[in-house]
Amino acid sequence: MSANIAEMEKRRSAAKLGGGQRRIDAQHAKGKLTARERLDVLLDEDSFEEMDLYVEHDCVDFGMQDQKIPGDGVVTGSGTINGRLVYVFSQDFTVFGGSLSARHAQKICKVMDAALKVGAPVIGLNDSGGARIQEGVASLGGYADVFQRNVLASGVVPQLSLIMGPCAGGAVYSPAMTDFIFMVKDSSYMFVTGPEVVKTVTNEVVTQEELGGAITHSSKTSVSDLALENDIEALLAARDFFDFLPSSNRDDAPERPCADAWDRLEPSLDTIIPPSANQPYDMHEVLRKTLDEGEFFELQPLHAGNILIGFGRVEGKTVGIVANQPMVLAGVLDINSSKKAARFVRFCDAFNIPIVTFVDVPGFLPGTDQEHDGIIKHGAKLLFAYAEATVPKITVITRKAYGGAYDVMSSKHLRGDLNYAWPTAEIAVMGAKGAVEIIFRGQDAEGIAAKTKEYEDRFANPFVAASRGYIDEVIYPHSTRRRIALGLRKLSNKVLENPWKKHDNIPL
Ligand code: HXC
Repeated sequence: MSANIAEMEKRRSAAKLGGGQRRIDAQHAKGKLTARERLDVLLDEDSFEEMDLYVEHDCVDFGMQDQKIPGDGVVTGSGTINGRLVYVFSQDFTVFGGSLSARHAQKICKVMDAALKVGAPVIGLNDSGGARIQEGVASLGGYADVFQRNVLASGVVPQLSLIMGPCAGGAVYSPAMTDFIFMVKDSSYMFVTGPEVVKTVTNEVVTQEELGGAITHSSKTSVSDLALENDIEALLAARDFFDFLPSSNRDDAPERPCADAWDRLEPSLDTIIPPSANQPYDMHEVLRKTLDEGEFFELQPLHAGNILIGFGRVEGKTVGIVANQPMVLAGVLDINSSKKAARFVRFCDAFNIPIVTFVDVPGFLPGTDQEHDGIIKHGAKLLFAYAEATVPKITVITRKAYGGAYDVMSSKHLRGDLNYAWPTAEIAVMGAKGAVEIIFRGQDAEGIAAKTKEYEDRFANPFVAASRGYIDEVIYPHSTRRRIALGLRKLSNKVLENPWKKHDNIPL
């Protein structure tokens, strides 16, 4: 018996050394943690239960039959984050560069299947040279098996990818199909074809970081939701983030004890709107003053800053926040902001997270660039996402809600449950000056000014919309948190179903 146990211990120790001390040292020298060290940071202490520690590849080409490392380049299993179950895989770059063999893929599929069965999120820590080159098509098949599960799990359990090293070629498409991606600055990159291929094909010279580093994907492309400084910061951010998410579409998000009074009044909000409609103010401040303990976990802060998305809590319960940001492009809706918010709204709806929308939007961004790049199709994404969402929807119009953008931003007409406006709200088909210049074309400057004043007096307020029942109540800004908290309580048992369909056809 003791010999058997000794054998087990020996095998375990060998497996835990991965590709050996030399490669572990190389990993550390790059400022990266190993696959196991990462799981130690991500998961609660001693909560990790490993699966498939002894799995080896079955490749017999290119001398691979003599190079077998138990675990085959990925550490898989389950653990807890603040006591809640999560399934994880962590690619081990010290073993064949974390490359994906058929067996490596089989291990990932096993944890994904298990997560789906019990309704638990999946977090993947990606650090891989891509397809295991020695295995050829067996590796490609493995990728497709993972892709298929990403799709089946989408909308059933939350999926989060941390990119902590290379992620190239078709391998990028598994993280791309998960709900959120966090990247580590300077040590991670994602691209379909790397700098060398780019140079050969297009003659462009570009670094890995510029082509597909954390900043590129968090600012330009929006492939990534956050760019973190290092492995530890990324893993700790993932822990915090996890606490906002329900375990599956059958569960509620976890509730956190909250010391912040639900009816806290914020007198400073009564004066946050500047006297001139052209002056900006920071919507972050409105969010901080509304949410529990001022905490807003912002996603994609570097991309399309004209809209803010992220999670917060009210009375300890998770809410999804979408808010126009007057500090950037006056909070206008454009292609990027529409796409950014649409996917987020759909995530919240899939996982039963109420959506609170703050509106200060002067309309859609005009211009040939926007039109020719498809603002019609992309703007429709956000409209579609709000219109199909059946979760509780509370809307607060702080200032401008002009034109089509008024309709889009969780309006009453798109089944907004509670639509509030501050007294400073201006709900109109467009800004007064633009409107008058169209209606009274040809009038002199004096006439235009007079008519603009008349138009403002008539329409630059929330009361016309309120008189039609499009706004449920015009509220004191200082009571915004209280109103939202009460609203969420009322809506907690909301039942609303869309007509049966196989699935909808959102303009992609
Ligand atoms: C097998 C691999 C590997 C791979 C790296 N290694 N990538 N083994 N298959 N794809 C091994 C190396 O041989 C080396 O082994 C160890 O991992 C570390 O690699 P290094 O090159 O020394 O590390 P580094 O200098 O940090 O460079 C990392 C790298 C580079 C940029 C990822 O290794 C690289 O370019 N690899 C090839 C990437 C690639 O072309 N992959 C296939 C893409 S096609 P030793 O024994 O020396 O430690 C693809 C299709 C997917 O992925 C399609 C899905 C649909």
